[in-house]
Amino acid sequence: METLSGIKACVFDAYGTLFDVHAAAANCKPLLGEKSDQLSSLWRQKQLEYTWLRSLMGEYADFWDITRDALDYAMAGVKLADPDIRARLLDLYWELDAYPEVPEMLTELKSNDLKTAILSNGSPDMLTAAVNSAGLPSLLDQVHSVADIGIFKPAPIVYQMSVDRLGVSADEICFMSSNAWDAAGAAHFGFQVVWVNRFNQPPERLPGKPKAVLPDLTKLSELLREARR
Ligand code: 2OP
Repeated sequence: METLSGIKACVFDAYGTLFDVHAAAANCKPLLGEKSDQLSSLWRQKQLEYTWLRSLMGEYADFWDITRDALDYAMAGVKLADPDIRARLLDLYWELDAYPEVPEMLTELKSNDLKTAILSNGSPDMLTAAVNSAGLPSLLDQVHSVADIGIFKPAPIVYQMSVDRLGVSADEICFMSSNAWDAAGAAHFGFQVVWVNRFNQPPERLPGKPKAVLPDLTKLSELLREARR
């Protein structure tokens, strides 16, 4: 673990980091039965793949359209054809649970005078809905969506957007993501990165290394208390 220093702002990935992307399928478990976990993983995996592939193809689409396409692929993959379940899963995506430690963690960062923001692939309306339903609006100073530039993470210009909007330099930003590839992209760009390894995954073999690894966000403010100097 390296020491973080000179941090002025904390920027968070949204899906999988602040909000539990598997909460939608978990809430539908009585309907999905034993297909629940497989469906949820495939849905998430395809959603991410489509962001990377569309970025390479120069075919940006709104994250909501990608989320729908990925669900359709995943339902076909687990051989589930039920329009009511599809509609329910999509509705639930607008009110995903925040991970339990998130409100207190953000409150602590704000009381330490750190700026807080989200930087996400999500579309602005999806992010507004998620932030509101989790009761977080007063704890986040800004929400940055890739929709404003039309390419997905880990394109460097996505991370540059947070630098421009927050008015601090890249190395004054501490970026948190549970997505190891996003943590790598952000570190490669020049942020100081904390990889939130919620799913106990091995490190990526990519350029860009996180400075610290935490199992969740509970101890983030403690880690950052010394890092503002
Ligand atoms: C996000 O940008 C990658 O899902 C992730 O919120």
